[in-house]
Amino acid sequence: MDSYGKYDRPVEIAEGVFWVGFRDENTTLFCNPYLIVENDQAVLIDAGSRTDFAVVMMKILQAGIDPGQIVALIYQHYDPDLCGSMPNFIDMCDNTTLRVLSENSNTYFLSYYIHRDKYQVLSSINEHNFEFSFNNRSLRFISTPYAHSQGSFVTYDEKTRTLFTSDLFGSFSSHWDLFLQLEEACYTCNDYGNCPKGKTDCPLPGLIRFHQTVMPCEKALRHAIRKIKELDMDMIAPQHGSILNKKRDIRLVADTLESLNGVGIDAIV
Ligand SMILES: [Fe+2]
Ligand SMILES: [Fe+2]
Repeated sequence: MDSYGKYDRPVEIAEGVFWVGFRDENTTLFCNPYLIVENDQAVLIDAGSRTDFAVVMMKILQAGIDPGQIVALIYQHYDPDLCGSMPNFIDMCDNTTLRVLSENSNTYFLSYYIHRDKYQVLSSINEHNFEFSFNNRSLRFISTPYAHSQGSFVTYDEKTRTLFTSDLFGSFSSHWDLFLQLEEACYTCNDYGNCPKGKTDCPLPGLIRFHQTVMPCEKALRHAIRKIKELDMDMIAPQHGSILNKKRDIRLVADTLESLNGVGIDAIV
């Protein structure tokens, strides 16, 4: 078992919410797909890249879910790191009610991942009032336009107050743990690049740099974070980096991102 061996199997991060990703040691940017299970049905969020498919599929089986029980695949935008395995999952979850849920403006690009014979699986959240329920479990979708794609959105699980944020709250991770680990001094620190404790594994520079690189501009990021701050959240589960499972951490990171400078084009022009 390597240092990440404890994450070799799916991890239940909240009631019926499983992290089914893995730590790819070849990159600092690896993906966190999530499975939400309610009784005999499940929903998969941001399933992952083409090369991740075998591991993610294995972890879904280890979580006790057969692909035929997956009723929806949610894609919070259309990048290949979360959509690459879409054709494999559509084939594997071969049930007549399967839906690929996304925002209207993503659908055009998502269709390029799908065989023409199967276009009917595409389902727009706009036409379903930005809500989806399965076995009485309610998911709510909140638009975060241009953070970073036109049709980007986040998904709120009412039952566990978990927010799945895709690239928002994501991070480059040279030192990774499944859950964000901060120390008391981090809450008052104002120089994350130069740790007053002399530590070299602060997670915040990777988080900041990721948003400065991936988000298009300060205005789009600020707008998204302000919408997210209105929600009552116990946990933030991003598509990259670590999960935030303390309200204090959520507040700190949200405040940091809301006031972040040098984001995308703002750093150039
Ligand atoms: Fe992305
Ligand atoms: Fe991503």
